[in-house]
Amino acid sequence: MVRPRLLVVSMSLPVTAKRTGEETWSFTMSPGGLVSALLGLKEFETKWIGWPGVDVHDAVGKKALSIALAEKGCIPVFLEEVCDQYYNGYCNNILWPIFHYLGTPPEYRNDVIITYQSQYDAYKKANRIFFDVVNEHYQEGDVVWCHDYHVMLLPQYLKEYNSKMKVGWFLHTPFPSSEMYKTLPSRSELLRSVLTADLVGFHTYDFARHFVNACMCILGTEATSEGVVDQGKLTRVAVFPIGIEPERFINTSKLSEVTEYMKKFKSDFGGRKLILGVDRLDTIKGIPHKYQAFEKFLEENEDWRGKVLLLQIAVPTRNGIGEYQKIKDQCHGLVGRINGRFGSISSVPIIHLDCSIHFHQLCALYAITDVLLVTSLRDGMNLVSSEFVACQKGEKGVLVLSEFAGAGQSLGAGALLVNPWNVKEVSNAIGEALSMSREEKEKKHQINFQYVKTHSTQQWADDFMNKLNEVTSKAEQET
Ligand code: UDP
Ligand code: G6P
Repeated sequence: MVRPRLLVVSMSLPVTAKRTGEETWSFTMSPGGLVSALLGLKEFETKWIGWPGVDVHDAVGKKALSIALAEKGCIPVFLEEVCDQYYNGYCNNILWPIFHYLGTPPEYRNDVIITYQSQYDAYKKANRIFFDVVNEHYQEGDVVWCHDYHVMLLPQYLKEYNSKMKVGWFLHTPFPSSEMYKTLPSRSELLRSVLTADLVGFHTYDFARHFVNACMCILGTEATSEGVVDQGKLTRVAVFPIGIEPERFINTSKLSEVTEYMKKFKSDFGGRKLILGVDRLDTIKGIPHKYQAFEKFLEENEDWRGKVLLLQIAVPTRNGIGEYQKIKDQCHGLVGRINGRFGSISSVPIIHLDCSIHFHQLCALYAITDVLLVTSLRDGMNLVSSEFVACQKGEKGVLVLSEFAGAGQSLGAGALLVNPWNVKEVSNAIGEALSMSREEKEKKHQINFQYVKTHSTQQWADDFMNKLNEVTSKAEQET
């Protein structure tokens, strides 16, 4: 089968660039689930269009970076002066908290006109810049797949320019209830733009239902079993739960380097049971809630003190936003308190690391973990849960998973589902997981392992692309 060329558009490219000389650049992998997931798309000829993670103001630097990125199949979008107001402002300080039910940040509540309007203007300008770059690289027959809340206006800009372009839009975060979404002043414009896409995708039925309801309440559209009808035009809305690339994790876990790390970490942890957390240090991940639940567990289970370690990898993210700096201080304060209360000269109960770690180390940690603790207050999917399941070896560990993560709907059957706001409930789940019999752990693991193995990223992308092709072919036949 001949596959169309795919132009993937997302705010972040899979690599973040750092300038090392006038014409030289180095790259590190960008954080987050979207990048991890899309790197698994192997069967398409893909060009990835996005922001390289730095501002570049000179022509020499831009040219050199474009050439270096081209070797990686990437095309940079230079956002320059709109970047701060767009990325730190509208995307991550307004849309992100509203989409995750955290509400609006205080500065926006206090100064709605200036803050909101200037950030929304930056959002529109940035989406125009994305449009210009897509347009420059678009060839007839390409499929343009727009990802996430950063580019909600892009489908409309593309379709207004060329109504024949095949355009998909996929949201990697939750879409909130219309009661929450309605607070956005630009609510109608964003929805109308998304509805110009040929196919709109979400991770769960709840997110899709909230989107359809928001269109009905705000735009007065009709809902059908296929999607949303606006002024006679049908936009398909469907559910595509994303997965990981299971073989990559399974095979990596078998590497001798990973086995060496496993031995080393086990010895470093001195025979203590390992509870692992792996999250970007984001307000939605409920890391302070996790620490308070663990503190409760230690308070109530004296026998476990000194026998269990909570290791939290807190991957740095969005440092330019005040709320992200605050959560870091809050976590450090809690860790200090808990380690002070329950630590000893030879060991502390929590290790909190403000850094990302090498992939081999990550797989080794997943493999030896007794309990993976995911306490997201809201989360689009949470790929860390699936990665943990794929890497488990020998006596299996237990997944304690927030019911507010999208993954709760796919991995819930093989996990202990918890409400992260209920500290006592999470504390009890930690106890239950640590004391679970080997057989019960194996049974739960098998349920989730089967799911993870059969729901890969590639499958997710194939499903989305097949549906998009079906929808656009049907539309072509009808015209
Ligand atoms: N991850 C990473 N660096 C690390 C640890 C983890 O890039 O040091 C990856 C992890 O493997 C996973 C992604 O970050 O693929 C997190 O994705 P998830 O869906 O759990 O959450 P998101 O960050 O997208 O909110
Ligand atoms: C989430 C979002 C992605 C984003 C990632 C990392 O997964 O859905 O769009 O790329 O977080 O955030 P960052 O701001 O570092 O790109």
